[in-house]
Amino acid sequence: MRIRTRLIIYYISATLLLMLAVGEAILIGIEHNSMKTVEKQLVEQSDSAVVYINQILLLDKSGVSGLLTNADSITTNLSAGNREVRIYDQKGKLLSAAIDGRVQNIQREDIKQYSNILKPALNNHFSYIIHDNKMYFASPIELQGSVVGVLEFVYSLDMLNTLLTSTRKIMMSGALLFMLLIALLTIFISNRIVKPIEELSEATNRYASRDFTPIEWKQQDELGSLVRNFNAMGEELQDYIKRQKQFVANVSHELRTPLTAIRGYAQYLSEEVDSRPDIDKAVYHLNNESARLQRLVDQLLLLSRLDNQKDTVTLAAIDWGQLVQESLDKMRLSAQKYKVRFKAEIEKDVFVLGDAEKLIQVIMNLLDNAVKFSPTNEWVAVNLRSEGEHAVLNIEDHGTGVAEEDLNKVFERFYRGANTHSTGGTGLGLAISREIIIAHHGAIKLFNLEQGGTVVKVSIPLAN
Ligand SMILES: Nc1ncnc2c1ncn2[C@@H]1O[C@H](COP(=O)(O)OP(=O)(O)OP(=O)(O)O)[C@@H](O)[C@H]1O
Ligand SMILES: [Mg+2]
Repeated sequence: MRIRTRLIIYYISATLLLMLAVGEAILIGIEHNSMKTVEKQLVEQSDSAVVYINQILLLDKSGVSGLLTNADSITTNLSAGNREVRIYDQKGKLLSAAIDGRVQNIQREDIKQYSNILKPALNNHFSYIIHDNKMYFASPIELQGSVVGVLEFVYSLDMLNTLLTSTRKIMMSGALLFMLLIALLTIFISNRIVKPIEELSEATNRYASRDFTPIEWKQQDELGSLVRNFNAMGEELQDYIKRQKQFVANVSHELRTPLTAIRGYAQYLSEEVDSRPDIDKAVYHLNNESARLQRLVDQLLLLSRLDNQKDTVTLAAIDWGQLVQESLDKMRLSAQKYKVRFKAEIEKDVFVLGDAEKLIQVIMNLLDNAVKFSPTNEWVAVNLRSEGEHAVLNIEDHGTGVAEEDLNKVFERFYRGANTHSTGGTGLGLAISREIIIAHHGAIKLFNLEQGGTVVKVSIPLAN
């Protein structure tokens, strides 16, 4: 999973858990406080109701039995204003029940389950239970120091529940909004954290293909120092490669003069010595090897000049198809030696801006590879066509192919793949070809074919 996705998931789950916990705590707090308020109200109501009952009993003068005779009128009076009131006698027997000023006919069984609040009330204590969304609140009726009955208020908790539900809804929508904000914030933060990491990973890819453009990162944090170190490493590498190239350039340059002399003397010897066959053979090898060395030094010098842009290509409109055809003709003889044949499909009038001599060098390198790495009696297919703004040349063989681990290294100088044990070469052909094609503002790529073999694709801008 990507770092950004992971950060977002972590943040959002943490916030969700936190909000659930806080939300639940707030709701419990609200419920607790509301119950306390209801309880307080009911205590006050009962107190004044009991005072009222006392007055009625005192006026009636019949003592305890006055409760029975006045029960209905007491409950009717006390329940006025949408309240529910009940009165019980000393033994917990229901004497009267009324709702909103009207007497109700409730069976003793109906309220049997609440009798456990009557006991504490008969013992002179307030007590209540909550059942079925209602609070049953019982308080003792005291007359001259002794409990003569119980007064019960039934309080509906609907309002409280509505309050809690709407609070929950409000909190939920608030929480959703908050989550959305957190998600946006997380995306913003994770972008800031992940961006330099992405840039670093991009830069490592670039570095692998020799592009050492430094990363821009102004923050002075840990990532900033990582980026600075990385940039410093790039500079160091660049410097090292430059020194290495300079060294090769200097050495090749120094080798040129003595090499020319050696070749001259070897040539002279081969013309003069033909009496002794052993010396003749030695001179033959001397000539061959010094010519090979000369080619190598020339190649190295060409690379150095392309590196330093001293030998920039001279671009002119040229018939690319004709150059390809000429190169094929030149290579045909050496291809025959390997028993490899060419199959060419060349579009007419494909003109490119190019340096003929250097482009021929590229085709010869590529054809040489295609032939060299092909088995005998195979075809090498050459195809040239224009595609949009570019001329695309494909050279396809059905040979060994390039090993997976060699694929992105074959364009490096002196790199030769695992398939080269029986073939000669120095590993400079593709490196030189790439430099030449880059100087032509083109691109060169090498792929393996699924059915075996390799295709090299060269594309350079058309002349018009
Ligand atoms: N057509 C191909 N088929 C298979 N492998 C190839 C092909 N072209 C190039 N390679 C691989 O790429 C490596 C580099 O190629 P390059 O042309 O630079 O060097 P070379 O052919 O070995 O030597 P040089 O071209 O200097 O004579 C080769 O050694 C080979 O492993
Ligand atoms: Mg080659």
